[in-house]
Amino acid sequence: MDRIAVLTSGGDSPGMNAAIRAVARTCVYNGKECIGVMRGYEGLIEGDFTPLNRAAVGGILHRGGTILKTARSERFRTEEGRKIALSKMKDAGIEGLVVIGGDGSFHGAKLLHDLGMPTIGIPGTIDNDVAGTDETIGYDTAVNTALEAVMRLRDTASSHDRLFIVEVMGRNAGFLPLEVAVAAGAEYVVVPELPLSIGNLCQKLRASHENKKSHTLIILAEGVMTANEMKDKLQDTGGYDARVTVLGHIQRGGSPTSFDVVLASRMGAYAAESLMVGKSGLMVGNVNHRMTLSDLERAWSEQKHLSPELLNLVEKLN
Ligand code: F6P
Repeated sequence: MDRIAVLTSGGDSPGMNAAIRAVARTCVYNGKECIGVMRGYEGLIEGDFTPLNRAAVGGILHRGGTILKTARSERFRTEEGRKIALSKMKDAGIEGLVVIGGDGSFHGAKLLHDLGMPTIGIPGTIDNDVAGTDETIGYDTAVNTALEAVMRLRDTASSHDRLFIVEVMGRNAGFLPLEVAVAAGAEYVVVPELPLSIGNLCQKLRASHENKKSHTLIILAEGVMTANEMKDKLQDTGGYDARVTVLGHIQRGGSPTSFDVVLASRMGAYAAESLMVGKSGLMVGNVNHRMTLSDLERAWSEQKHLSPELLNLVEKLN
């Protein structure tokens, strides 16, 4: 295999650039060529390719976002779109592909693998909702970004004796909100994985208000409901004056943490080398601190579970 392509797809996440750099430089190190595909699967269909030599990936290690840009492609969902993509890759002499993205992006990677194009996935999403890896690229950075914002909210919540409902991203998963809740010492966390009783939550809030707990933080996963909806539902909180904050896309931007840079560098190098030794249809994972490969299908067929220990901690330590 002499020419390997790399693309980023789905929502961007901090550390994607470090992964692109690692794929490109591992190719150079092994005497291979690396090609960057612009705007994910859209660029594959349009043949929007750019050579990634050593210099092309210089100075991007700590940059947020993705230099290759990213998109969610409707055309690639069609057989026709995939056929065009494959022929564009063949015309460009591309013999293998690294896909950096979440579970949706891995569906596309698997389809290409089934069509005979060697493909390896790298999990990159702030949601951390991909089975087969302990962490996805960008998750740690997003936790720290959200944490910084929540700690600021805690300051003003405490000055005004207020209740804050903070809506945190994560799509349909609670990994990001749960980690933020523990790190921020939030009183409550509401995640899609656990049933929610509004009545119960109101009762707890009333009790804590009676116990003279002046301010309270609820970390709410966006997959449950919006923070405004929750504020409307929390009718009787015993007197707390409630405010709502939606952290939104702030959580997706910024320079990656050292953890994400190192994780992305390891995953990028491992993915490129796996392709070079003939592996395909697999995703890279970090399991118990070691690089692993597992079937791409795991990303969407297996549910990754929240840590019961962390869930208990929020309850115990609030
Ligand atoms: O998957 C990453 C993510 O940021 C989710 O947490 C969020 O629900 C979604 O993407 C937002 O997508 P968009 O950028 O298309 O609004």
